[in-house]
Amino acid sequence: MRIVLAALLALAAVQARAQPLPYQEHAMNLGVVNCANSLCHGSISRWKDSDILQNEYITWSRVDKHATRAYQALLTERSKRIARNLGLREPPEKAKLCLDCHAYDPPPELRGERFKVTDGVSCEACHGPAEHWIKSHVAPGATHEDNLAHGLYPTSNPVAQARLCLSCHFGNKDKFVTHRMMGAGHPRMSFELATFEQTEPPHFVIDDDWHRRKGSWDTARVWAIGQALAASQLLDVLLDPKRSHDGLFPELVVFDCHACHHPMSDKRWTPLSGVSPGRVRLNDSSLLMLRQIVRRMLPEADARSYDERLVALRRAVAGDGGDPLDAARAMRTLLDRVAGQLVTRSFLPADLRAMLAGMVQDGLDGDYHDYAGAEQATMAIAGLLDYLGRHGGLADFRGANDALDRVYDAVRDDEKFSPARFQAALDGLRKTVIR
Ligand code: HEC
Ligand code: HEC
Ligand code: HEC
Ligand code: HEC
Repeated sequence: MRIVLAALLALAAVQARAQPLPYQEHAMNLGVVNCANSLCHGSISRWKDSDILQNEYITWSRVDKHATRAYQALLTERSKRIARNLGLREPPEKAKLCLDCHAYDPPPELRGERFKVTDGVSCEACHGPAEHWIKSHVAPGATHEDNLAHGLYPTSNPVAQARLCLSCHFGNKDKFVTHRMMGAGHPRMSFELATFEQTEPPHFVIDDDWHRRKGSWDTARVWAIGQALAASQLLDVLLDPKRSHDGLFPELVVFDCHACHHPMSDKRWTPLSGVSPGRVRLNDSSLLMLRQIVRRMLPEADARSYDERLVALRRAVAGDGGDPLDAARAMRTLLDRVAGQLVTRSFLPADLRAMLAGMVQDGLDGDYHDYAGAEQATMAIAGLLDYLGRHGGLADFRGANDALDRVYDAVRDDEKFSPARFQAALDGLRKTVIR
């Protein structure tokens, strides 16, 4: 039974990778008004006898930045400046380049009468065009499987969810924030699935009936799969002949931003980086998180080949030996396998504790010397501590929180990041949490 279940879950992971994203579907988009009725998802307060909250629209429209900010951001002076600097012909709120991420932007023939692009990142941007599931999802006895069969996007599947969020929070082959756009004024992108899912804030509750209707959900697994997919998306840029270059230069967003953007007097190179001095380092922050995950959750042979491929990739990208495309391809193949395997794994408290200890140790060993790694490690450590705290796995809760605050302080400003200060904060955390 367990083997059959594992095989089914692995199959679901493969399907989730092939699943078209909402904007790739050929079905009509009806618009947010169709979801917002007070008897549907626009109730002011949560319904007691319903499986779902029914106030999703209220949460989304009042406090979710996808509604309150994503589109509005395009009307700001900053966006006008970005568009000017890029030489766009239209204003940003009309430019497909921007709307594809700052709103939901299906082609005109797939927009219903009441669809409004100004609604921002709307329900259908994540749950898929409603044409075929709007009726069936309220039919008596309708199941989640029925809804999925009618084209509801499987946000309940962690691989599908990670691909969805990352399609805008990192970009994919269809939409992408390049270094050129950042040079024009677009902010640096930073994302971690489990953390962002909590801060959105969620308009759903993962409880017993959720599990009954939709299967298992595990925040640690969501984090792990989010990292695997984020690393895959980065490698996809390296491997995509269209996106990997801009003129003579490689596309710079796949590298560590602060490898270039720091004063010359601030000497940062150490032999620990694994590449020779004066090289531009790959942004390997997700790959570093995954290293801990793979070590704990997968067989030893996988963990060994993961470590080898990571070293090979870093060196090849920096020009220290080996073909970078071969190295990226080898890692990319392994990541697909890792994501497939993670979908079937349960993360136990002992696993989380071991990953936390491993991450703190990696940090003390200097592995998060680059800001992007330190930033990802901080979000991961916060998530793991939160989980352990809620499940009674932390002896000194207040001490851990104080120590975590200092870790946060060390990554608050990427331009003032000091690896030494970050390590000192981690050491404080080690003393309170791991001992
Ligand atoms: C691949 C998706 C993507 C594309 C394309 C994109 N953005 Fe963004 N943009 C984002 C995300 C995600 C954020 C939030 C970044 C964060 O804070 O983590 C953001 C943030 C911003 C911000 C700052 C946020 C704010 O509330 O003020 C501005 C301004 C902005 N984008 C403007 C633009 C403009 C103008 C364009 C078109 C030239 C554009 N973006 C294209 C995804 C995208
Ligand atoms: C940024 C993406 C995103 C947007 C925008 C979004 N959702 Fe969701 N929604 C999710 C995710 C992720 C889940 C959790 C996984 C699941 O239950 O499928 C979810 C879950 C739900 C659930 C199921 C809760 C349960 O217990 O089964 C409902 C209902 C829902 N959303 C309605 C809406 C409505 C209505 C809107 C628009 C007002 C909306 N969502 C906008 C991502 C989004
Ligand atoms: C269609 C594109 C799109 C999709 C899909 C999307 N987002 Fe976003 N998201 C954005 C943009 C654009 C912003 C920036 C809003 C702003 O600050 O201007 C944003 C902002 C956010 C923020 C607020 C960040 C902050 O700095 O406060 C969170 C949290 C977030 N998204 C989580 C998610 C999660 C979780 C998912 C997947 C379930 C997701 N997003 C899917 C486009 C998207
Ligand atoms: C290989 C080195 C390199 C990397 C890596 C790199 N950049 Fe740059 N960046 C440059 C150069 C060169 C310029 C152009 C500087 C100029 O015009 O003065 C630039 C310009 C910029 C600018 C505009 C600054 C200005 O003065 O107009 C921003 C913002 C920026 N980069 C952000 C980023 C972010 C965010 C990342 C990481 C995702 C990144 N860069 C990665 C080399 C790099």
